[in-house]
Amino acid sequence: MMNSTHTTPKPQATNSLIRTQSYVNGMWVDAANGETFDVIDPATGNIIASVVDMGNADVRTAIDAAHAAWPAYRDLTAKERSTLLRKWFTLIVEHKEELARLMTMECGKVLSESRGEVDYGASFVEWFAEEAKRTYGDVIPANTKDKRLVVIKQSIGVVAAITPWNFPLAMITRKVGPALAAGSPVIVKPPSETPLTALAISYLAEKAGFPPGVYNTVTTSKNAEVGLELCENNKVRKLSFTGSTAIGKLLMSQCASNLKKISLELGGNAPFIVFEDADIDAAVKGAMASKFRNNGQTCVCVNRMYVHDRVYDEFVGKLSVAVAALRVGNGMDDDVQMGPLINEKGLTKVKHHLADALSKGAKIIVGGNALEGLFFQPTVLTNITPDMVIAREEVFGPVAPIARFTDEKEVIQLANDTPYGLASYFYSKDISRCWRVAEALEYGMVGINEGMISTEVAPFGGIKESGIGREGSKYGMDYFMEMKHLCFGGIN
Ligand code: SIN
Repeated sequence: MMNSTHTTPKPQATNSLIRTQSYVNGMWVDAANGETFDVIDPATGNIIASVVDMGNADVRTAIDAAHAAWPAYRDLTAKERSTLLRKWFTLIVEHKEELARLMTMECGKVLSESRGEVDYGASFVEWFAEEAKRTYGDVIPANTKDKRLVVIKQSIGVVAAITPWNFPLAMITRKVGPALAAGSPVIVKPPSETPLTALAISYLAEKAGFPPGVYNTVTTSKNAEVGLELCENNKVRKLSFTGSTAIGKLLMSQCASNLKKISLELGGNAPFIVFEDADIDAAVKGAMASKFRNNGQTCVCVNRMYVHDRVYDEFVGKLSVAVAALRVGNGMDDDVQMGPLINEKGLTKVKHHLADALSKGAKIIVGGNALEGLFFQPTVLTNITPDMVIAREEVFGPVAPIARFTDEKEVIQLANDTPYGLASYFYSKDISRCWRVAEALEYGMVGINEGMISTEVAPFGGIKESGIGREGSKYGMDYFMEMKHLCFGGIN
């Protein structure tokens, strides 16, 4: 562990779930040209494994296999698909520890959080195994006496899931859970940083018994080339993407060529407001959970804090004590609370946001320094102003910027002054204010006296430039199904 300057590289444990080939049409395969790429442990810089590097032609093979598997798979009964998902859920839970270790190795997330992510990811599989059986249609009172009108919901067809490195498991299951439940074969394209967790759960899907072609995982470092194929190939009927707003816009424009259905879960700029009537200890707890989860690398992490003048000193003081106590190091050590950033690009971004804020008058209260390798000290910054980059863009790192406010209207205006609208948070004990502010915040999700809002039972997603569609919950299935109106005429 390092409080400030040192990390101890750990020998890589053997892990029976490590697979390095892509999984296509029920087989473990190489790229046609034999290429591979390396997966790096961000905590140590060591190579964990070399993984198959697929190109366009390989991905087309996977799409063809998924498309061929679609009719038989969608014709299974909902209960049969539900049973497959249930088996997959059980296998994921049974392999929790190995999956968690693999995840920590490739994305740096600390073990306790990786274990939590296995539970979180598995919960989507369990939830959609149940929802598979509840994709009800409708009977509509007809407009004429000789007609009967019925609505049915059917599988949308082959689904492509392009997933991020910050949740190597849960962002896959949140997409493929509903797709598989609805009767749609899937092509998973994990990021090049974290293909091993994706391949490990593909192996568990194979063991669960999904028919060949129904579950495919294509590993690649050629993101642009493969992304374009998934968007432009007519056999893919739906694309679901989690990642940056810039890439989301690019994929959306590429999907326009065939009007492919698309769900986007994109960047945020989450405000965290502490009103003068808040429970300050609860607010500090919520801020710690939301800001420093996964080292600040989640789309719903707090990005900017606004604290009322009357409780500012108390909040900053208590938060600073909690932040200074965070233990940084290799996430494989059980007593570490914060791991490394994912890569050099992530680290450079944090340094840039910090330098910009300091040049415009921000003050460091805790931390502020890069450590060895990809590690960065958990940091508290005050005197934040709206012109700073850190107040306008996701820092995706362990820096908590704090600004002072005095008026409710003013702080709502500041919170909404962004093109993003994913998550937001505020703390207040006044019930009228809670309703008023929750309704006024232009976000897809609002945490009210709560810093942890993610769960499989509630809809996850954003408005404005934070995305299109919702994942999880009873609403999640609809994005993987087409609605069909059956109009029966000549009834007498
Ligand atoms: C994300 O960062 O994209 C997902 C976070 C979550 O599911 O809580």
